Amino acid sequence: MSLSGSPVSIDTAMAARLLPMKELIGALRAAFVDGCVVPARHHHTITVPGEADATLLLMPSWQEKRDGESFLGVKLVNVFPGNAAKGLPGLTSSYLLFDSGTGAHLATIDGNVITTRRTAAVSALAASFLSRENATRLFVVGAGRVASLIPDAYRTVRAIAEVRVWDINPENAAGLATQLCREGLDARPETDLEAGTRWADIVSCATLATTPLIRGSWLQPGVHVDLIGAFTPDMRESDGEAIARSDVFVDADEAFHEAGDLVQPIRSGAFRQEDCRARLRDLCSGAAAGRTDPAQVTLFKAVGTALSDLAAGTLAYKLYRDTSAQ
Ligand SMILES: NC(=O)c1ccc[n+]([C@@H]2O[C@H](COP(=O)([O-])OP(=O)(O)OC[C@H]3O[C@@H](n4cnc5c(N)ncnc54)[C@H](O)[C@@H]3O)[C@@H](O)[C@H]2O)c1
Repeated sequence: MSLSGSPVSIDTAMAARLLPMKELIGALRAAFVDGCVVPARHHHTITVPGEADATLLLMPSWQEKRDGESFLGVKLVNVFPGNAAKGLPGLTSSYLLFDSGTGAHLATIDGNVITTRRTAAVSALAASFLSRENATRLFVVGAGRVASLIPDAYRTVRAIAEVRVWDINPENAAGLATQLCREGLDARPETDLEAGTRWADIVSCATLATTPLIRGSWLQPGVHVDLIGAFTPDMRESDGEAIARSDVFVDADEAFHEAGDLVQPIRSGAFRQEDCRARLRDLCSGAAAGRTDPAQVTLFKAVGTALSDLAAGTLAYKLYRDTSAQ
């Protein structure tokens, strides 16, 4: 709670400042080890006359009350596809944080910032176990909100020396590469997906692709592939050969039911859930090994979990409180 006793409001710019990648990756690692209650997310369809249906998505999670502080959070995401025609953002999101011992409302935080930053941070956390320790070349596939944060997240866990960026729209790739250069990275756009994939130590995709971008035949020994995009069974960023050639890891079991990258090979019999090497929580706790061989091809598929939102929301709130108290 703020010093005045009412919930604090953490806007876009403040939320980004309160979620530095190093601290966020550390908080996520601890949260995956500790665990929390994550019920199924709720999808509600909202009829908008004369437009495509909208969706209200609710993602709750909470820590059981324990000694010291404990937290409960809900992310609300409104997806209004008809907004595009009106020049309005199609997605609006807020994160509400509460005390899980009393229910007291502690903070309202920009939900988009929570989502994009925790997503890039979760991928970097996974890569800290799965990519080669000497990985320096990062290929970013996509140039949207999440993709733009991937280099910052990855350079927290690996000594990234060069970044290449591909996007379905080459102007977006060039724009992101310019922005990354301004952030002090050696970055350039790449127009050839295959060349970028063959060049990279780490390939990280954050797109809306519905057909495979990354081909298994392009994967070099020792590469780590990170798939953030596909979140429905009809979407995918990799082909069946990429899954077959890789040791597969996931952030949460929902990936087997939601992500086309895994759902489609499971349906065809080419991949089984039991083939998955480990969940992120087991990598974080040390219960499962990550990369064991420099030549191994590893692949991490994330669909996102409310546990990550709670870890990020709690970190932003605590850092806000600590800086306000000074
Ligand atoms: N795993 C998670 O936890 C998690 C969290 C947030 C977002 N996401 C997913 O990550 C992806 C990117 O999210 P964002 O917020 O950066 O979106 P965004 O709209 O900002 O960016 C989307 C990117 O995809 C590209 N793109 C669009 N259509 C494409 C196609 N057919 N083929 C290849 N590229 C295409 C766009 O050019 C852009 O670079 C989305 O699929 C989103 O659902 C996943």
